[in-house]
Amino acid sequence: PLVSSTPLLQAARANGYAVGAFNVHTLEMLQAVVEAAEETNSPLILQSTVGTVKHLGADYIAAAARTAADRSSVPIALHLDHCTEFDVLVQCIRAGYTSVMIDASMHPFEENVRQTKRVVEIAKAVGINVEAELGKVGGVEDDIVVAEHEALMADPDECARFIELTGVPTLAPAIGTAHGIYKGEPKIDFDRIGRIAQKVAEPLVLHGGSGIPEEQVKRCVALGMAKMNIATEIRIVFSDAIKRVFAENPDENDPRKYMIPAKQAVKAAAIEKMRMVGCIGKA
Ligand code: 13P
Ligand code: ZN
Ligand code: NA
Repeated sequence: PLVSSTPLLQAARANGYAVGAFNVHTLEMLQAVVEAAEETNSPLILQSTVGTVKHLGADYIAAAARTAADRSSVPIALHLDHCTEFDVLVQCIRAGYTSVMIDASMHPFEENVRQTKRVVEIAKAVGINVEAELGKVGGVEDDIVVAEHEALMADPDECARFIELTGVPTLAPAIGTAHGIYKGEPKIDFDRIGRIAQKVAEPLVLHGGSGIPEEQVKRCVALGMAKMNIATEIRIVFSDAIKRVFAENPDENDPRKYMIPAKQAVKAAAIEKMRMVGCIGKA
């Protein structure tokens, strides 16, 4: 069965590694990251955004993830990423998701607390994880668009107060990363991560994982980031592999053929990220 991501992330934080969390949009992408986890004996978080829930259906996604988890030798959680809509969030819980992110980071602090608290109460009752965001992660994820000048770093004291007020088990503080591929390098505030981690014992979540140089990923993890989200990079390698097939053979029309290199590419990229965050062998 699918497991809650709370114990997976607590173990990661306690032992100085992070769990890879991958946004998947098709069955092949889902299978690719599951194979990556199994081959490397890594714990795994499958994720879908609200856009993907609307595209595929929470029940279809949960059924595929559950099938993977039932067959798997490694622990697998299913997480709803960046949800701003309470009804979608409840539908996903009902469908079998074992973790949800309530993203009320665009609202003032008190409203973020209010919305997060409400979700934490429900999630605790059914034994699943909750993630919330403080500050604003820049870039584009689904319909959430945050321009660079609007991105806002999380304040360490506010992080501590937020945890106290909401009881949320995992926190994503904005610390300078962004969704999508960086122009140049991310401007990560490592000192801020350290100060947040001193005040918050809960697992921290690193958003905007695509494009962060390896050495910087490792510093983030060493400071207390226990989950790294990857969306854009696996979408790119998946799509590029399909484009290559059609460039070489424009008449190809068998998804069972053109999806093979795409799946391989996602699997290889996922293993590479798992190695970077140190979760290989931790299942
Ligand atoms: P990237 O698209 O940069 O990998 O960010 C992923 C993410 O944070 C999903 O929530
Ligand atoms: Zn994100
Ligand atoms: Na990124």
